[in-house]
Amino acid sequence: MSEHHQVEMTTMNYDKDRPKAANPVKIEDLTLRDGHQSLFATRGRTEDMIPVAELMDEVGFWAVETWGGATFDTMHRFLNEDPWERIRTLKRYIKKTPFSMLLRGQNLVGYRNYADDVAKVFVERAAANGMDVFRTFDALNDYRNFETVVPAIKACGKHFQGCICYTMTEPRLGGEVYNLDYYVKKGKDLEAMGADSICIKDMAGLIAPYDAYAIVKALKASVKPPIHLHSHFTSGMSAMSHLKAIEAGVDIIDTCMSPYAYRTSHPAIEPLVMTLIGTNRDTGFDIKLMAKINEILERDVMPKYRHLLDDTKMSIIDINVLLHQTPGGMLSNLVNQLREMDALDKIDQVYAELPRVRKDLGQIPLVTPTSQIVGIQTVNNVLFDDENERYKMITGQVKDLCYGLYGKTAVPINAEVQKKALKGYPRGEEPISCRPAQVLEPELDKAKKEVGALAKDIDDVILYALYPVTGKKFLSWKYDKEPVPADVKPITMEQVKAKQELVKKALAGKLVEKKEKQAPAKGENLRTFNVFVDDDYFEVGVEEVGGKPVVSYVQQQAAPAPTSKPAAAAPKPAPPKPAVCKPAAPAAADVDGTALRAPMPGMIVKYEKNVGDAVTVGETVLVLEAMKMENALPSPASGTIKAINFKSGDAVAKNDVLCVIG
Ligand code: CO
Repeated sequence: MSEHHQVEMTTMNYDKDRPKAANPVKIEDLTLRDGHQSLFATRGRTEDMIPVAELMDEVGFWAVETWGGATFDTMHRFLNEDPWERIRTLKRYIKKTPFSMLLRGQNLVGYRNYADDVAKVFVERAAANGMDVFRTFDALNDYRNFETVVPAIKACGKHFQGCICYTMTEPRLGGEVYNLDYYVKKGKDLEAMGADSICIKDMAGLIAPYDAYAIVKALKASVKPPIHLHSHFTSGMSAMSHLKAIEAGVDIIDTCMSPYAYRTSHPAIEPLVMTLIGTNRDTGFDIKLMAKINEILERDVMPKYRHLLDDTKMSIIDINVLLHQTPGGMLSNLVNQLREMDALDKIDQVYAELPRVRKDLGQIPLVTPTSQIVGIQTVNNVLFDDENERYKMITGQVKDLCYGLYGKTAVPINAEVQKKALKGYPRGEEPISCRPAQVLEPELDKAKKEVGALAKDIDDVILYALYPVTGKKFLSWKYDKEPVPADVKPITMEQVKAKQELVKKALAGKLVEKKEKQAPAKGENLRTFNVFVDDDYFEVGVEEVGGKPVVSYVQQQAAPAPTSKPAAAAPKPAPPKPAVCKPAAPAAADVDGTALRAPMPGMIVKYEKNVGDAVTVGETVLVLEAMKMENALPSPASGTIKAINFKSGDAVAKNDVLCVIG
C-alpha cells in the first residue's frame, strides 16, 4: 500500500517472530492522572503509584501523564500531599519515559485566568520539577490564552502539545460552529504557534468513530505536527474511535492500564496492543509485562479506592452523554449538587435548561472550567429563577465570562444576559475584547506578601497564588502550624481489610441491625465516654437533656488564629469560658434581625463586610464557593451586620446562618 499509515496485515507466527512495526502507534498512558481522576475523583495517592512506577517505565510509553488537571487542586485540598513533590518522587522511579501534564492554558491548574507573571513562573517551576510534555488547552479554544505559557514552555526546551477541545452542537460532527473546517483551522493555528504535536481533546467521549477518522485524516493532510487523540470512554464509542483514528493515520493514542480504564475514563491499552499485533502499527508492547502491572494494581492498590467507584449502575457507559452531549464529570457534579440541595427531582429541568444556558453564554465547549461554569449556572437558574426573572443568581465566573476574562466565545454571548451579569461588575460594565490576561495586574508579589513566612520556597508561593484559601490551609499542615485532619490522611490496606471483615460479618447476619430511630441533634453539653465490652470498644456520647442553655456559637472571626478544619470533621469545641466572651459580636441565635442563610452547601471564600458595617439590601456580604464556583451572596435587608458566624475557609451546610443583619 502506498500510504504508510494505513493498517497492513502480515501473516506470521505472532508469538515467535513479531517484527518491529514500520510505524508503531505511540501510546500515552493516563493511569496516574486522568485514570484516577475519572474513576476515583482524583484521589490517587503518590504512595499508590510507586509500586508500579518502575514497571510502567519499562512498557515503552511515548509519555506518562502524571500531573495537571484536577490533581494539583485535589492533592493539596483532600490528600494533604504537595503536588510538586509528586513529580519529583515519581521521577525517581520513572527515569526513561517523559512526563506529561495537562495545562489549562492561562488557567494553569486552576479555574480562572491567572496573571502573566504567575503563568510564566508556574511553567518554569513545572519544567524544573520534572515535567516534559505540556498538553495545553483552552476551554474556549481561544489560543490568545496560550501566548504567555507557550514561549515559557519553549524557553525551558520542553514539548508544547496544543489541544483542540472537541465539542459539538449536533448529534455528529458538523453544523454552523463546530464543523470539520473549524477543527482544521484550529490545527493550523496551533501549528503556526509552534506546536510540537496537536491533540484532539475529546473530554466527554463525544467523538464518533467516523468523525474521528474524518478529523484525523483532514489534520494529517493539512498540518505537519504529529496528531494525538484523547477520547474518554464515557459514551462507549472511544475504543472504536481509536481504531478509526489509527486507520486515518493518528500518531499517538491515550489509554489507561485496564484497572483504571473504561467508564468515564479511557479504553484500556491491552486490547489495543493485541488488536495491532501483526500490523504495521503494532505498539511493540509486552502484554505479559502489562499483566504484571495490573496484578499489582488489583491486589495492592485498587482495594483502597473501590469505595470511590460509582457502582450505582450496572452499565459502564453513560447513555446521557449520547442523549445530552455533556461530559460525564459534569453530569455527576450536577447530580451531586442537586442531591445536596434536596432537588434531585429537578434533573430533567436541568437537562432542558443546559443547552439554553450554553447558547446564552456563546455556545462554548464544555470542559473544565467552562463545564462547571455552565453547569452550576444551569442549576442556579433551575433552583432560583422564577417566571418574572431569569438569571437571578449569576455566579462570579459567569460574570467573568461575560466580561471576556476567559476569552472569545465561539458565538457572541446573549446581550441581555451579558448586560445583567455585568451590572455593577467591579472591572467595568463594558466587556473587553483583548487577550484576557492583558487586563490582569501582576499577582506574584502580592501573593508573596500575603502568604509571608508560611511559604518556604517559590513552589509554596505558587500553590498559594493559585489556591489562596485551601493552599494556605495546606501549607499550615505541611509546616505543622495546624494539625492534619483525619479525613485527609491515607487509608491503609489493614483498614481496608478490617472493613471487608465487617462487611463479611454483616452479610453473614452477625452484626446487630441499627435502629432507625432519628437521633436528636448533638448539643454543646455532649461529653464523650469510651466504653469497653470484652474486646469491643464503643465511643458513647452522653448529654443531659434539658440542661442549662449555653452559648451555642463563638464569634469565630474575633478569635485569635483559630484552627480551621472542615466543619464536618471538626470536633465540637469546648464551651467557651464566660470570661473569654467579652463584648465580641453576639451569636446568631441571640441576635434579632434578618438572617442571611446559605442557599447551598459550600465553603466561605471571604466576608466582604465586618460586624458593625452598614449594608443595603442587595449589597454583597460574602462570597460562597459551591462546586468550585464563587457566588456573591447579597444582603437580604438593609441595616447593620450584627453577627458573623463563620470565617474564610469554613465549610457550611445549606441553610446555615452565615450572618445576621439588624
Ligand atoms: Co481527559
